[in-house]
Amino acid sequence: MSSFLTHLTITRPDDWHLHLRDGEQLKDVLPYTARQFARAIIMPNLRAPVVTTEMAQAYYTRVVSALPEELRGQFQPLMTLYLTDNTQPSEIVRAKNSGIVQAVKLYPAGATTHSDAGVTDISKCFETLAEMEKQDIPLLVHGEVTDPDIDVFDREKIFIERVLIALTQRFPQLRIVFEHVTTRDAVEFVKQSSVKIAATITAHHLLLNRNALFQGGIRPHHYCLPILKRETHRQALLQAATSGNAKFFLGTDSAPHALMNKEHSCGCAGIFTAHAAMELYAAAFEQAGALDRLEGFASFFGADFYRLPRNTNTITLQQKVWMIPKQYAFAGEVLVPLYANAELSWKMG
Ligand code: NCD
Ligand code: ZN
Repeated sequence: MSSFLTHLTITRPDDWHLHLRDGEQLKDVLPYTARQFARAIIMPNLRAPVVTTEMAQAYYTRVVSALPEELRGQFQPLMTLYLTDNTQPSEIVRAKNSGIVQAVKLYPAGATTHSDAGVTDISKCFETLAEMEKQDIPLLVHGEVTDPDIDVFDREKIFIERVLIALTQRFPQLRIVFEHVTTRDAVEFVKQSSVKIAATITAHHLLLNRNALFQGGIRPHHYCLPILKRETHRQALLQAATSGNAKFFLGTDSAPHALMNKEHSCGCAGIFTAHAAMELYAAAFEQAGALDRLEGFASFFGADFYRLPRNTNTITLQQKVWMIPKQYAFAGEVLVPLYANAELSWKMG
């Protein structure tokens, strides 16, 4: 890595947690990611979730075909399967043999956007998880309990206690990525777990605490799941991300929803950050005085965990003030990005 006052050149990063949607929406959001990242783990929570290898193959083809001419061949989607109560061990074998499916995603049923088909009881998946452990396919976890009696700010912590600890004990060789961790509890859990357990951290959870949800009024564009937490948790995430600990790596969880579905009496969860993903992470790392740690977090640790080669080309971020647009096009609708109409001080060249 070379770092001067005004430039930061790092190995091309990867995004280990991304929602690309489908159809025209996919066409509109994909270029932002493909411009910055060499690869991304593509979440399977489409309206009809990606539950089979065949569906993952078809989605892969749609993603690659949606790339604009100038980015063809420069971006590789890494596909995932959506785990259900009925996912069979044989599907795991198919996934492994496909060469394009990298991981399987666990959404507790009802936890988030398009998760109705999610897992109702993890014990229903034990045989399939055993096959994943055998095939060495990572399990990606949306780590929140869905029990409506549990306070929404506690759902991640309780998930660790009720599900995750037992899971790691039952399947000690299973590689698990605790996705978009948001609490000090999750950070501590990952740190003290075996090398098989890692975590992704989003830019928005590094930059915002839960006050951002109510800054001068209710702020639907800051609403995502897991929900933003209090400042002590943000500090723990920032510390983990900038510590150089290879268990923590970049996953934007960029999750676009049309404005009309966000600014609504029952608005969707998800924050769009792909338009300026690396710039947002750079802002967070700069705040922590740790820009020299950005490359490991963004470009090395995820690839190492997934046992994929590190990228060899580079990107350059320049220190330059620019204004994030108020909105972007989104399949004939409007997409409001994080920090819409606000200034950022880094820009990818
Ligand atoms: C994601 C989405 O919109 O698909 N939303 C979010 O708030 N992160 C789903 C998810 O990752 O939970
Ligand atoms: Zn997500």
